[in-house]
Amino acid sequence: MVSVLFVCLGNICRSPTAEAVFRARCAREGLVDDVKIDSAGTGAWHVGEPPDRRAQAAALERGTDISRLRARQVVPEDFILFDYIIAMDASNLSDLEAMRLPDSQCVLKRMLDDVEASDTRDVPDPYYGGEAGFERVLDLLELGADALLKEWQSRGLL
Ligand code: 4NP
Repeated sequence: MVSVLFVCLGNICRSPTAEAVFRARCAREGLVDDVKIDSAGTGAWHVGEPPDRRAQAAALERGTDISRLRARQVVPEDFILFDYIIAMDASNLSDLEAMRLPDSQCVLKRMLDDVEASDTRDVPDPYYGGEAGFERVLDLLELGADALLKEWQSRGLL
């Protein structure tokens, strides 16, 4: 079993979408029983809320229903419970580094750190922008999800 927590700021746009995209990739590979996948936000503003309507619509258009996900905030125990914590951008990453427990063994990095095809290492925050931002987020998350799955396969974790 390999576990991963995707983290953004609010847990209503990028990270729930990352959770769903990665889960769909794992399902396609027949790996659902081998992985634990969750998402959370560094901030608490949207705790308990479903994903942003624009994120729901964009995901649904690509075949994934994320309406039942609910936002939660990162807790210190996440650094013990998850093998991988994947930040969406550099700001999320530095917030997580500051929270990290000293005895945590988890791999902490950004979603796009190992994606050669991307011209950016940050999944841009789409919250204050238009619909196109959510399409771009999905495009980047699909690349990041493929890279993470490939990494796990090449490391023999799956
Ligand atoms: P997310 O987007 O981090 O991708 O979920 C945001 C959601 C809410 C806010 C900022 C970013 N906010 O400021 O409330």
